[in-house]
Amino acid sequence: MKKILVLHGPNLNLLGSRENEIYGDLTLAEINKRIKKFAKKKGFVVEVYQSNHEGELVTKIQEAKGVVDAMVINPAAYTHTSIAIRDALAAAKIPTVEVHLSNIYRREEFRKISLSAPIAIGVISGFGAFSYILGLSAAWEIISGEKKTKGYGRKFRK
Ligand code: DQA
Repeated sequence: MKKILVLHGPNLNLLGSRENEIYGDLTLAEINKRIKKFAKKKGFVVEVYQSNHEGELVTKIQEAKGVVDAMVINPAAYTHTSIAIRDALAAAKIPTVEVHLSNIYRREEFRKISLSAPIAIGVISGFGAFSYILGLSAAWEIISGEKKTKGYGRKFRK
């Protein structure tokens, strides 16, 4: 069975009580439940991990190399600051989809820069908790069969 790792960055453990007008009312546990339900429906294994610590996320990405088939990551604030996470993603060479609950391009200037986006296959931003499902769906599409990736330019498949 294929395996997808979903990584949540800092402060996402506070979802449900954190700036609800931006991030919605669902808790992280509720979002994870939806993620697991989707994985079950499609037939892949999913591991979910959240950390507030940059180094822990880096270690998790390093450990994923050769073990997981794809990653969906919401690096949260580290999106805009972490060269370490970007480098870990580049080294892991795992097909990765970056996701954000909010549309980072509709917000403050500093959020419009993502250091990790150039390493990702693609970015999904602005659909609330559904961003994770869209991201998982894209990741699954890519790993579940070469046939399906024919719609992607070769340069951007991995
Ligand atoms: C976020 C957007 C980031 O700018 C912010 O720091 C977050 C969450 C999102 O999911 O919309 O913590 O990644």
